[in-house]
Amino acid sequence: RMMKSKMPCRIDINRLNAPLLKIYESLIPAEEEKVKQKQLLTMLEKIVSKEWPNAKLFLYGSCANSFGVSKSDIDVCLAIEDEGIDKSEVLLKLAELLQSDNLQNVQALTRARVPIVKLMDPVTGISCDICINNVLAVINTKLLRDYSKIDVRLHQLAFIVKHWAKSRGVNATYQGTLSSYAYVLMCIHFLQQRIPAILPCLQVLETTYKVTVDDIECAYFDQVDSLVDFGAQNKECIAQLVWKFFNYWAYCHDYANSVISVRTGRILSKQDKDWTRRVGNDRHLICIEDPFETSHDLGRVVDRSSVRVLREEFERAAQIMQFDPNPCESLFEPY
Ligand code: GTP
Ligand code: MG
Repeated sequence: RMMKSKMPCRIDINRLNAPLLKIYESLIPAEEEKVKQKQLLTMLEKIVSKEWPNAKLFLYGSCANSFGVSKSDIDVCLAIEDEGIDKSEVLLKLAELLQSDNLQNVQALTRARVPIVKLMDPVTGISCDICINNVLAVINTKLLRDYSKIDVRLHQLAFIVKHWAKSRGVNATYQGTLSSYAYVLMCIHFLQQRIPAILPCLQVLETTYKVTVDDIECAYFDQVDSLVDFGAQNKECIAQLVWKFFNYWAYCHDYANSVISVRTGRILSKQDKDWTRRVGNDRHLICIEDPFETSHDLGRVVDRSSVRVLREEFERAAQIMQFDPNPCESLFEPY
């Protein structure tokens, strides 16, 4: 691990602004990627509508929430009448249809936590996961997209944090680290907490959008075009925000007692959520409340050893931002 003594002189953080913005821009997908995604979706719609004429396909995840970096896989949700269907059967049928339409690497994962069919389209080269009736994911995708329209610094911060997490190997829920969705929520919450705030809390403003999904009411203010000046009082630049973000998670977050909550724009206590001990496989060592499924902790996958890895990586990043002579390289160095 990085020793402070090797890098004694503190650097001027603002100097990192231009190189970080350059990295951010290099991660933004080209317009033609969007075109290819649409093309694939249209083809999937054709295949699906033959078998299920009333079904609809929705994009969700990073291809639709605006936080997708270049060359990402796409996430698709098949919305189909619920009554009396067996999800596994639908997935197996879907896999069969896709296979006979020359899609490659078709695999139905019916036993996964979120059952899906995986495929690769040889024409566009895009890989895709299709799930069934995961409507909440479609709604939280819209929430993230709406947040991203308020202040460009969210987009910049989240791209850099995601890129860092992928480079450093801490973006894999099956290894006990955090999902991209969790990292974006951490960025939103962090910007809600700045003084002055850079982002509002959309779920405490007047309701302009409301849907009920699986008995969960999802309501928030979605007229975000009226909020584009919200963060203007705050002049912090991206380099400062990246540094302070890592600093927060390295040295300031109270892992023993705190839950971050985008829903309220505040920090809640683990005590109040009853997230103080391990229940089954949910350990609550780093607590990130889902904005709609409030009983859902996105940090539940993190165990004792991976929380240590995460915290060491946050510290490493904070140290690099402050002391490394070449921070933009070291930060994203493969682990
Ligand atoms: P990348 O694929 O890494 O670019 O990011 P992504 O935004 O697609 O995130 P990810 O693959 O982690 O998740 C896809 C979507 O699933 C998210 O955007 C959410 O809408 C939804 N989702 C809902 N609950 C969860 C959860 O507990 N874990 C994960 N990973 N995703 C969830
Ligand atoms: Mg994804």
